[in-house]
Amino acid sequence: MKLASPRLALAGCAALLCTTTTTAASSSPSAGTLALHLSKRDINGAASPQARGIVAFSSSSSDDTPSPFLLPRSIAARSIDDPLDHGVFPHLHPRQSVSESLFDVLRWSAGGAYYVNISVGTPGQLQTVILDTGSSDLYLDARNATSCARDDNCRGGTFDASASSTTRIIIPKGVEGSFNTTFGDGSTASGPYISDTVQIGNLAVSNVQMGLALNVNSTTGYAIGLMGVGYSLNEASTKYVYSNFPEVLVASGAIGSRLYSVFLNDISAGSGTILFGGIDTSRYTGDLVTLDILPDTVASSLVYHNQVEIIDQFIVAVTAISTDINGKKTSILSGGAADGTNGALEVLLDTGSAAWSVPPRVFDAIAATIPSLASDGTLPCSVQNNAGTMTVRFAGKKDIVVPIKELIAPIYNATTGRQYRNRNGEGICLFMVSPQEQGRGQFLTLGDAVLRSM
Ligand SMILES: *[C@@H]1O[C@H](CO)[C@@H](O)[C@H](O)[C@H]1NC(C)=O
Ligand SMILES: *[C@@H]1O[C@H](CO)[C@@H](O)[C@H](O)[C@H]1NC(C)=O
Ligand SMILES: *[C@@H]1O[C@H](CO)[C@@H](O)[C@H](O)[C@H]1NC(C)=O
Ligand SMILES: *[C@@H]1O[C@H](CO)[C@@H](O)[C@H](O)[C@H]1NC(C)=O
Ligand SMILES: *[C@@H]1O[C@H](CO)[C@@H](O)[C@H](O)[C@H]1NC(C)=O
Repeated sequence: MKLASPRLALAGCAALLCTTTTTAASSSPSAGTLALHLSKRDINGAASPQARGIVAFSSSSSDDTPSPFLLPRSIAARSIDDPLDHGVFPHLHPRQSVSESLFDVLRWSAGGAYYVNISVGTPGQLQTVILDTGSSDLYLDARNATSCARDDNCRGGTFDASASSTTRIIIPKGVEGSFNTTFGDGSTASGPYISDTVQIGNLAVSNVQMGLALNVNSTTGYAIGLMGVGYSLNEASTKYVYSNFPEVLVASGAIGSRLYSVFLNDISAGSGTILFGGIDTSRYTGDLVTLDILPDTVASSLVYHNQVEIIDQFIVAVTAISTDINGKKTSILSGGAADGTNGALEVLLDTGSAAWSVPPRVFDAIAATIPSLASDGTLPCSVQNNAGTMTVRFAGKKDIVVPIKELIAPIYNATTGRQYRNRNGEGICLFMVSPQEQGRGQFLTLGDAVLRSM
């Protein structure tokens, strides 16, 4: 059974910056909002030459306490109050934001990912990490991690804690509650939690807690750190919840709100932007739509039956899908309900995934409408010229129109950086929707292929 959706209020949502607070219904585990924009048309009403848009995330689920770092991982004890409401940070400079470039390195992984450069430690060490709304820890690969011994394995750089004068160990490796995580693709990373200074753009923030992966086992064959910007409730520690990067930015006074917005640009563009603390209204046209976030089923040692439903990830309902390709309109899925029932798909909005996973029956229906799609998911890159679209409806209230070309990404040999080509010399691309069996209570990841068009 699902909990009632958390009640939400968008407060003080003026032009550029929204501060989101919960209405604090005490029965509600926590709350969050998600705003989607569609920018199919430019301000003059003409069709936009590029699909571009923005996704804005706001969570208010977690303890924002800037210190101490360690809070017991107790759902029962969780405060859902927003400290901003209580003047906990009276020194806060209101309404500031921090913007940083994201860049898409298609060659590093199938379908590409969005990376952000940060500098960590004193003196600073450059780290390139994947911006990930689907996880919640910032983590770096350690300089001395065994799997980083070969130079090109840890492509985002490695962090040498012994060379930084400001590193502190928060939880040593191997101790209960230390950093130890398994990602959706089966990759694992573990090590101590440390804290250090993190510089993003021209802003330096001290005492940022992060995982330092001394052990990395990546299913892709190479490792890259992540900047997980999801709810702190979803952090990798089994024992503690700490203020993660977006929350430390708020607590330090650098930004005025945990809200951030992500502009991924279109598939052929080399870069996008993340704006912490605000929404850049120049990046979209059309209306702002707020969606309820659906609860996630998680194990808890605190309750009988060991399972509770909490808001800890950006999970929303896809209630309809249709395609319009070569003049033929096809309904793929319809009638889903905004609470995730009636055949709706529960999806995790995940910038850390390139593709969108859908149940096999949905995949088969979509695949049947895509020209020249082979059973292994590849297709000639020339299909990118197809003017067709796929329309994805979120929570019964917002249609996102995804140009088919946004779902078709070139694939490269990760070692050589060269694009794969077929016998005729034509570039081979990958269709960025893939089939995945969905267990009961499990969500599907909806990655950049669709997020780019929001
Ligand atoms: C990030 O750092 C890498 C390595 O120095 C550099 O090649 C790249 O241009 C940087 N990207 C941005 C967006 O600053
Ligand atoms: C790697 O470095 C970390 C921090 O500098 C240290 O705690 C750890 O013992 C080192 N591990 C190995 C295998 O050298
Ligand atoms: C991480 O967690 C997994 C699964 O709980 C466990 O098997 C593994 O030993 C842990 N690794 C470390 C380094 O603590
Ligand atoms: C990494 O994972 C693979 C596949 O799960 C496993 O065979 C291998 O032993 C692991 N390596 C390490 C160093 O844990
Ligand atoms: C990628 O290129 C390397 C080096 O030429 C080669 O050894 C490897 O087999 C290629 N990988 C694939 C999947 O073709």
